[in-house]
Amino acid sequence: MSRPRNDTLLRALLRQPTEYTPVWLMRQAGRYLPEYRATRAHAGSFMDLCRSSAFATEVTLQPLERYALDAAILFSDILTVPDAMGLGLSFVEGEGPRFERPLRDADAIRALAVPPMESLQYVFDAVASIRRALKDSVPLIGFSGSPFTLACYMIEGGSSSDFRNVKALMYSRPELLHHILDVNARTVTDYLNAQIAHGAQALMIFDTWGGVLAPDAYREFSLRYMQQIVDGLERRYEGEDVPIVLFTKGGGQWIEDIAATGCDAVGLDWTTDIGVARARVGHQVALQGNLDPGVLMGAPDHVAIEARRVLDAYGPHYGHVFNLGHGISQFTPHDNVRVLVDTVHEYSRTMLAQVMPPDHDYGTDEAGDSGVGLWLPS
Ligand code: CP3
Repeated sequence: MSRPRNDTLLRALLRQPTEYTPVWLMRQAGRYLPEYRATRAHAGSFMDLCRSSAFATEVTLQPLERYALDAAILFSDILTVPDAMGLGLSFVEGEGPRFERPLRDADAIRALAVPPMESLQYVFDAVASIRRALKDSVPLIGFSGSPFTLACYMIEGGSSSDFRNVKALMYSRPELLHHILDVNARTVTDYLNAQIAHGAQALMIFDTWGGVLAPDAYREFSLRYMQQIVDGLERRYEGEDVPIVLFTKGGGQWIEDIAATGCDAVGLDWTTDIGVARARVGHQVALQGNLDPGVLMGAPDHVAIEARRVLDAYGPHYGHVFNLGHGISQFTPHDNVRVLVDTVHEYSRTMLAQVMPPDHDYGTDEAGDSGVGLWLPS
């Protein structure tokens, strides 16, 4: 597998030295871009975009043509997996995702099985097509939903404000929920390994709803199944490391547990101070995040101030991938994205110039991690 010319993201995820902090944005290809809206109108629907590798490739590259982003992310959706399991996915305009056959009885749950990976071949074709189009410029990130987050949509049948069906099942027939989660974890493991085999160079698991759980329930119903996936992934492919990021929205209080899965990086939403998070787990994992996406609704000079605030909070250390704390809003003024990306690059270049250059012996910084310390002249 050839390494991209700009491999800053891969090095940061592996906590290796970089000249600046790499940046990409969750949902970077999406409705805030007029060219995305045009392609989507042309394709017909969101799922038509996902099912065509030509359209998926086109929209994946759109944000990279505008901004100096350090990674591409596969254009698809986490809900392709339950769709392949036969639940019947559709996206209703203005309402979000809907499943025709949500899991609402024990028989439907017992019948759930790992789908043949051929039913997701269109996703793997998109991965291969995007890799060809990127021509080894920047790395391609593959992704999946977490078993628990997928189960939330599969049981509720769509988005939910209280997850009452999920919690009713969890606290009445936990063995049935465990069956769904185990099928999801085995499916996601196969799905992500196939994305790697088709060219994904880093992976991210989106646990959007793990944060709605009580601590013990989080460990039992969400983290445990992400651990099962981490254990089952090909962590190296054709001689290259394939780093994996775990992101639990609302999971800031559990980052030690998340880091202990053996993932390479932990994604943070904006409610956790990234400097405090680094002191807690920075000797073990890289951190990805964590600007409040709402900052992008503000004035450009505030975007720059708030971006620098996140970089200052992390400090002059390797192992940070700049991102938002959740997906970019469709109402984002797109010129603010340029201010954000350029500020992250320029400011972090100055900050990281203070870190010991890679051809020197590394010190050990206050968190006990070698290779990321400040250089102190002897
Ligand atoms: O990040 C990227 O640019 C890659 C593409 C991507 C999409 N969805 C495209 C998308 C990724 C990584 C996702 C992940 C996803 N999908 C998550 C986890 C991340 C998160 O946001 O918490 C979740 C929960 C979903 C499920 C989903 N997909 C919902 C709830 C919705 C409707 C809400 C909305 O924003 O409209 C979608 C649709 C969706 N997925 C869109 C995009 C660009 C908007 C569809 C459109 O064009 O109308």
